[in-house]
Amino acid sequence: MSIEHRIIIDTDPGQDDAVAILLALASPEIEVLGIVAVAGNVPLHHTEKNVRKILELAGRTDVKAFAGASRPLLRPLVTAEYVHGKTGLDGPDLPEPEMALQVQDGVDFIIETLRREPSGSVTLCPLGPLTNIALALIRAPDIAPRIRQIVLMGGGCFEGGNVTPAAEFNIYVDPHAAATVFQSGVPITVMPLDMTHKALTTRARVERFRTAGTPVMSAVAAWIDYFERFDEHKYGTDGGPLHDPTVIAWLIKPELFQGRDCNVEIETMSELTMGMTVIGGA
Ligand code: RIB
Ligand code: CA
Repeated sequence: MSIEHRIIIDTDPGQDDAVAILLALASPEIEVLGIVAVAGNVPLHHTEKNVRKILELAGRTDVKAFAGASRPLLRPLVTAEYVHGKTGLDGPDLPEPEMALQVQDGVDFIIETLRREPSGSVTLCPLGPLTNIALALIRAPDIAPRIRQIVLMGGGCFEGGNVTPAAEFNIYVDPHAAATVFQSGVPITVMPLDMTHKALTTRARVERFRTAGTPVMSAVAAWIDYFERFDEHKYGTDGGPLHDPTVIAWLIKPELFQGRDCNVEIETMSELTMGMTVIGGA
């Protein structure tokens, strides 16, 4: 199968980020050019280490891991250890990573890659706060027309928010970065809570993961056991939403999804609705 998507993953692992990364690495249609960590679910020193843990678990230390921003553009960092645990990857006990973190700044890696690769050939897949993507666009406005597309998990339309009644976590943590990205003119496909709340990890599915009998699938089942307890309690569902893998699933099987063109604006003025994705034409 030929490579259809050459992507950079920007991520704040996060158990669901981890599943998204594993899915991308296992998909022959996708070439992962690099993975950049951002502060979000947990601070950057955990998210960058988690990227390396995931790559080692997958046996893919050929993929380079970078560290990007340690805090949002303007607001103080808000994290979610209450969902993801202290390390951000609570569940299975994975060894400390041995592979090196790249010395190059992750935002510089994004800029350099987009300037080097053929224009329109690279897709950005943000799975956390959009700080790194916004910094790249601010530092190097010339890259915007060179980006093939941005496919991101974030926001909510009729579903409202999950960190406040109005805002989804990724957008809430760095609303100013999100506003910069949504105003960039780059083609953007969004996986909002309205969609991810339909991608539930039911008990039956998780048991199939667990009985697959491989170290990767055992880790995935243990991550989901840990991560989904919060949403199962909050929403009273059989299983919780596995948000971030929907970004990769859309790339490899877009026919599973339906959507429409909308205008998206980000609330950055009111504390009450900070980070709300205000969607016109929905
Ligand atoms: O709101 C869900 C998003 O916030 C997911 O990306 C999850 O990993 C957290 O970052
Ligand atoms: Ca995430």
